[in-house]
Amino acid sequence: MATHTIQTDLHDFEPAPKLSIKDLNPNVIKAEFAVRGTIPMKAQELQTQLNKNPHSLPFNEITVANIGNPQELHQKPLTFARQVVSILQYPELLNRRNELTSTTPPIYNNDSFDRAEKLLNEIGGSVGAYSASQGVYGIRKTIANYITQRDLGESASPNDIFMTTGATAASSYLLSILSNGPQTGVLLPIPQYPLYTALLALHNATMLPYYLEEESGWSIDTNEIEKTIKKNAMTKGIQPKVMVIINPGNPTGSILSEDSLIKIFNIAAKYGIVIIADEVYQENLFNGNKFHSCKKVLRSLQKQFPTQYNNVQLASLHSTSKGLFGECGQRGGYMEIIGFNNDVRNLILKLACIDVCPVVTGQAMMDLMILPPKQGDQSYQLDCIERQQIHNDMLNRAKKLYDMFSHMEGIQCQKPQGAMYLFPRLLLSTKVIDEAKKFEMEPDEFYCHELLNETGICTVPGSGFGQKPNTYHLRTTFLAPGDQWINKWEKFHKAFLKRYT
Ligand SMILES: Cc1ncc(COP(=O)(O)O)c(C=O)c1O
Repeated sequence: MATHTIQTDLHDFEPAPKLSIKDLNPNVIKAEFAVRGTIPMKAQELQTQLNKNPHSLPFNEITVANIGNPQELHQKPLTFARQVVSILQYPELLNRRNELTSTTPPIYNNDSFDRAEKLLNEIGGSVGAYSASQGVYGIRKTIANYITQRDLGESASPNDIFMTTGATAASSYLLSILSNGPQTGVLLPIPQYPLYTALLALHNATMLPYYLEEESGWSIDTNEIEKTIKKNAMTKGIQPKVMVIINPGNPTGSILSEDSLIKIFNIAAKYGIVIIADEVYQENLFNGNKFHSCKKVLRSLQKQFPTQYNNVQLASLHSTSKGLFGECGQRGGYMEIIGFNNDVRNLILKLACIDVCPVVTGQAMMDLMILPPKQGDQSYQLDCIERQQIHNDMLNRAKKLYDMFSHMEGIQCQKPQGAMYLFPRLLLSTKVIDEAKKFEMEPDEFYCHELLNETGICTVPGSGFGQKPNTYHLRTTFLAPGDQWINKWEKFHKAFLKRYT
């Protein structure tokens, strides 16, 4: 083909340089996300090396303990949910219902077809079409019913539910609306899930850290919070506008008592602070621990003391990524907003509209997570067995890991109450601290680095979540199957301590 010639004098110029980092948004450059930080990145490199040369390292696989991503670690998806979603994705199957439900054993259960038909009807025919920006109304109604039941009759309205692409999108909407430059103060628990520090960096808001009390099971000290509000915010012209609570806690695995929540609302009411309640682990509870939803506690305060508490603004977040569902990749989530003025609410809606709509199959997943098959339905028994199995597996692994940490020298660990993580404290010698300095690493980062290099176990240093000065931790999930990796870790730890005493 002949080349089209353009006038030559058109090419007679000095080419402009490409963009460099200094041309880019400094807030994005500032933001960090340790869960996928340097240690996990190193783990990826080691995985590539293992793929090329399986015998080149002292281990033959990477144990992914850095992220709460259950299905990456072979957690089985729940059959009922996947049957329904497969019909939603390929509605032609509806025409083959008789054939698919009459084999022995049946390929599909009848109630999977019933639910798929109901959902398709609510969605408007196809998961391939955009939904309303706030989310499918029928699904929001189901969520409102679920919340009402969870909160023992405290009613919820579908109009207050915003479906989101994972809980991440909900946090992101809220913090982009509420942040108004460095004068906006956001109270964050330390340690925290690094999504929140990353969002504050992106929106250039000021973090007001409140430290969780490790010795008392990572509890909240509201007196300290009030001191922070006065000393670190109000006297410096910073408006304490938002407080994030993560309950059950990531990375701590702790659960807040009803009493703590009452004290938190007391502060919210007194100072006009919006509460973002990240409650994505509300189903991950161990050893009889009870989850108290913020919404329920707030409603009961409002009934007793309406004048004091009626202005409180709360956003409560949930997700399909956690619980016994573990459908992280489906990106289902919602937030319930309570007590906000219409202006604020409309701005949230505007952001949702700009994003057009949350992933529609993710919305369906949320419906399936909160409304499982009921007694008498064909899928009921299997669904109960599968959910119980996932719960037991998690509990057993949490126990095993906790037992190991409890009897290991140089490690202190709080008992797991909920969520998917342990956050043990590493009592590291000055020799370790000095050695870490040589490599320009934090001491806990150095420990995680050595653990990865010697065993293939990938964890996240406590410094990525925040911790009290001169304390060192790491976060590990208890999702990896088997206990070989736990034994390997124990061996590594003993050798590490010996090397640096
Ligand atoms: C406390 C907390 N909030 C939010 C998220 C994000 O969840 P999602 O997958 O729904 O965006 C996570 C994920 O690990 C989390 O641990």
